[in-house]
Amino acid sequence: MNDDADELQRLRANAQARAFIDEELTRRFAAEDESLRAALAAAQAANMPAIQISSLQGRLLQLFAYACGARKILEIGALAGYSSIWLARALPSGGRLISLEISEQHAAVARASLARAGLADRAEVRVGPGAELLPALQAEAPFDLSFIDADKPGYPVYLDWALRLSRPGSIIVADNCIRGGAPLRGASDDPGTHAIAEYDARVASDPRLRSIVLPLDDDGMDGFAISVVVGL
Ligand code: DHB
Ligand code: MG
Repeated sequence: MNDDADELQRLRANAQARAFIDEELTRRFAAEDESLRAALAAAQAANMPAIQISSLQGRLLQLFAYACGARKILEIGALAGYSSIWLARALPSGGRLISLEISEQHAAVARASLARAGLADRAEVRVGPGAELLPALQAEAPFDLSFIDADKPGYPVYLDWALRLSRPGSIIVADNCIRGGAPLRGASDDPGTHAIAEYDARVASDPRLRSIVLPLDDDGMDGFAISVVVGL
């Protein structure tokens, strides 16, 4: 066999191994139940983009919630409520998830999925642009965990608010902080890429935070920025 064919075979074997690992870890640690599957089906039926986090990422969010003893969780960007279900399930009784969503249609799908999962008592979806809804949350702060997964150009402002609404020990997580590497390469004309680059740079250097950005999707091309608030 020539070198190209060997290389192709190696790449295929790697991809198969990655798929096996992903399936096996998901089965062991982050299996979806009927409510999570129904949330995905509802999103598809509503023609929403299939850009939700993976179930392993959902499980990781739950572990962050447990680690900081989360009783109040803020989500910026509900989409169809898939991550909202993972987050709300990590709350103790009496805990609250407030999820912000710009689209009334998407919010309706998210609310229905949260209700189907039996979480309507602890999870609320508020409709509007994040920058307009966030100031009112000061009355309900501090939030123990914030999860940012919304319009990318808004990320720097969402980080400002997540910090303002945090306490020392709070955890701030943002999805899509790698995006194929573009935000790590430097200047970009794309507003989303530019904003994520700013987000990644700020969490790396803000003295109030200890952070890491980790590839977490199945091909290592995107992932979370994870920050712990150490001072305010
Ligand atoms: C997009 C948004 C997301 O939050 C995501 O996880 C993947 C893609 C997007 O807008 O393309
Ligand atoms: Mg995302």
